[in-house]
Amino acid sequence: MNEGVRRILEQMERNGYITDSEIATAVYLAMELRKPLLIEGQAGVGKTEIAKVLSSMLDVDLIRLQCYEGLDVNTALYEWNYPKQMLRIKMEEHDRRSVAEKEHEIFSEDFLLKRPLLEAITRQDKAPVLLIDEVDRADEEFEAFLLEVLSDFQVSIPEIGTVKATHVPYVVLTSNRTRELSDALRRRCLFFWIDYPSFEKEVRVVKAKVPGVNDALADQICMFMQGVRSVRLIKTPGVAETLDWGMALVSLHRDHLDEENVRDTLVAFLKDNRDVQKMSGKRLDVLLSAVSGDGRPPGDIIPALRQQLTALEV
Ligand SMILES: Nc1ncnc2c1ncn2[C@@H]1O[C@H](COP(=O)(O)OP(=O)(O)OP(=O)(O)O)[C@@H](O)[C@H]1O
Ligand SMILES: [Mg+2]
Repeated sequence: MNEGVRRILEQMERNGYITDSEIATAVYLAMELRKPLLIEGQAGVGKTEIAKVLSSMLDVDLIRLQCYEGLDVNTALYEWNYPKQMLRIKMEEHDRRSVAEKEHEIFSEDFLLKRPLLEAITRQDKAPVLLIDEVDRADEEFEAFLLEVLSDFQVSIPEIGTVKATHVPYVVLTSNRTRELSDALRRRCLFFWIDYPSFEKEVRVVKAKVPGVNDALADQICMFMQGVRSVRLIKTPGVAETLDWGMALVSLHRDHLDEENVRDTLVAFLKDNRDVQKMSGKRLDVLLSAVSGDGRPPGDIIPALRQQLTALEV
């Protein structure tokens, strides 16, 4: 492994993010090439967390732009502080300066409300991490605008002029793929896909993030989840749900999985009643018998478990 990649891997792990060489390489390249990193993957697999960890390991601020349908340039870039402008106009009613001079004053930086994109490119001390979260939820027009900002790292404010980035921020974009992103945006970025984790990786995440979980319970939870993901559910649980479930079990002082413990806590990782219904009965029996363990290693149990559950889907 390249020395730089190894360093990133260690730093991410030290900051609580269980990392493999693919993730570390993507982060390393994004930093070296100063390209935005576009992370796609299912819900709850650790996309957003990468930006958070990056900011804490670089010890810089995290500036987050949460995307949604209808997000517009004003909310993302800047707005004029109208109340402050109005107040100033009122206060200066009897001031003899010309209208042009007064206008010049109230359309200056002091009256600007910086929104995340402008905030990110005008940081004076250090380059921050700019997280553009769930970019697939924003409209295509907004994506086109974003493209401009990400290519030049400068924005033009008619009343002030062009504002150029003091430091080019580290940019992380995430997407759940609710719609296809444009080729132009993809071309600008380094792309990384995060899949559901392997059993071994998920066990490490659980042990790192669920205080008080014992080794056997962590193994059982993760084996169970590896199986659940081969059931066709409306909302397949991600790592976030595995962690919620782990915390729920620990806080109820349940130290192993059995039928009662699982039934009592299904709601911690299933978010739709149809999924709860589907997971009861035969599927639950199959999962419980697999996780109660017959001494075989997880590497043998999980493929067989998946096969059994997939067979129930038809
Ligand atoms: N590799 C990992 N190491 C440590 N924690 C992880 C890892 N992957 C996921 N997590 C944890 O799982 C939870 C969900 O992660 P995150 O919010 O980043 O997911 P996401 O992919 O952005 O989900 P969504 O698509 O719902 O926004 C967080 O609590 C995060 O800390
Ligand atoms: Mg997220």
